[in-house]
Amino acid sequence: MNGRDIWSNRTAFVLASIGSAIGLGNLWRFPYVCYEFGGGAFLFAYLICLVVAGIPLLMLEFALGKRMDQAAPGAFAAIHSRLEWFGWFAVGVGFIICSYYSAIMSYCVNYFGFSFSLAWGEDPTHFFEREVLDQTNDASQPWQLGSFRWQIFVGLLISWAMILFCVWKGAKTVGKVVWITVLGPWALLLLFVIRGVTLKGAAEGLAFYFTPQWEVLWNFNPSPGEIGAHGLWLAAISQVFFSLTVGFGVMIAYGSFMDDKTCIVRNSWIIGLGDALTAIVGGMAVFGALGHKALVTGKPLQEVVSSGPGLTFATYPEIINGLPYPVFFGILFFLMLSLLAIDSAFSLVEALSTAVRDKFGFSHQKANIIVAVCGLFFGLPYMFGVGIHWLDIVDHFMNFVGLSIVVLGTCLIVGWYKRPSEMRQFINEKSKGQIGVWWDIRIKYFIPAAILYMLGFEIYERVDGPYGEFHSRSQELLFGWGVLLFILVVGLVLAALRKRLPTNPPPS
Ligand code: TRP
Repeated sequence: MNGRDIWSNRTAFVLASIGSAIGLGNLWRFPYVCYEFGGGAFLFAYLICLVVAGIPLLMLEFALGKRMDQAAPGAFAAIHSRLEWFGWFAVGVGFIICSYYSAIMSYCVNYFGFSFSLAWGEDPTHFFEREVLDQTNDASQPWQLGSFRWQIFVGLLISWAMILFCVWKGAKTVGKVVWITVLGPWALLLLFVIRGVTLKGAAEGLAFYFTPQWEVLWNFNPSPGEIGAHGLWLAAISQVFFSLTVGFGVMIAYGSFMDDKTCIVRNSWIIGLGDALTAIVGGMAVFGALGHKALVTGKPLQEVVSSGPGLTFATYPEIINGLPYPVFFGILFFLMLSLLAIDSAFSLVEALSTAVRDKFGFSHQKANIIVAVCGLFFGLPYMFGVGIHWLDIVDHFMNFVGLSIVVLGTCLIVGWYKRPSEMRQFINEKSKGQIGVWWDIRIKYFIPAAILYMLGFEIYERVDGPYGEFHSRSQELLFGWGVLLFILVVGLVLAALRKRLPTNPPPS
């Protein structure tokens, strides 16, 4: 068993996986992407992608980890020795995500601080973005970095300290911490939803959220400025993977910690549905608040706030302002958001440091520190005034391109190189509930074909025009393609660096 920890019990495994899945992806990313891609249409596409691709892939990752008894690089190396780099690439994408994820955690920590004095004021719209927009919105100005924001940097340090604290003792601690970081927040979330949907004007926001505009779902030939179906479906499927933490090697590592009696099929459904439910319920609070904002400002719903990563940080304070004891609920809410984020971030740190440990024989502690210090370092660009825009670019490329490549590769490797029926049999052996041949078809044909098609279109679009608010090629090259290339090269180097150590427990 590789000397690795096994979850102390089955509930701990499920909770840790749910903890990894539920996080800022649900309460920060889901609402703003949903807003950007037309509300109801996106929600519909999201649910389809969850059932058709997300949950089956979750089963696949658990099974791969359990079967190979390794973190991602080792698991892929066990399939074929030439594939180790691919596992590193997957955790590499996760690592880059983790580095900006911790920057968003820092916003949560800062907002936690703001709560004490309700520092966002009467109109919380883009409180933390104002400085950036003022500095950079003028297109005639040469491009500016903005100032280094120490406050956010301190938040980043606090976030990494919390993450390290939680991973310190490995799977056993994780199993305990998640009780607090998963179950606690739900109660508070419900309260926020009730407040959000009872705000005056909320109904309009909810209608936007729940009414799919069917045309958008197959609008494969959009006119400029319109939402196209390719973009929408790619956004939906990558949000599903992002939210489930599928495609980062995390669930592979967690699968390798799983005990023999854990039912893969049932747990994948529990985790998948629990995660989606959190996003959808959380979205109700956000869209309720947006509807309220539309009423107050007299603007159409699509224009009340500029879409993008700052959106959710504008809506929650709106709800908090409308609650009876705003200071109290503000503090509680941002504490909850930080807690939700920690277990997602530490799942990646755990997955990556397990891989580093397996490869180089470092102690768990040392591997954790290396990962954390690198993560902190890569988070530094987001500390500048303009950071949120860089974050937007990195987020787009990591999820639309990097993640798609990982999932595509995983499907091709398992579907075509290894026989999927063999994998399915393994999953069924480890499960009470059984999956049928449909699973093979999805892994082998459907998911790769769909991703290939959408990815092709995304690349074509990027040839047409760069991504991001500033439409700048150089930034896209650096923060988009450059980062992807960097992960690829690091993956190749790590895979080539040294023969894998025999997978014995490292001396401690
Ligand atoms: N699943 C996490 C969430 O919903 C987000 C996430 C996905 C993540 N991959 C990650 C976080 C890698 C850190 C590192 O919040």
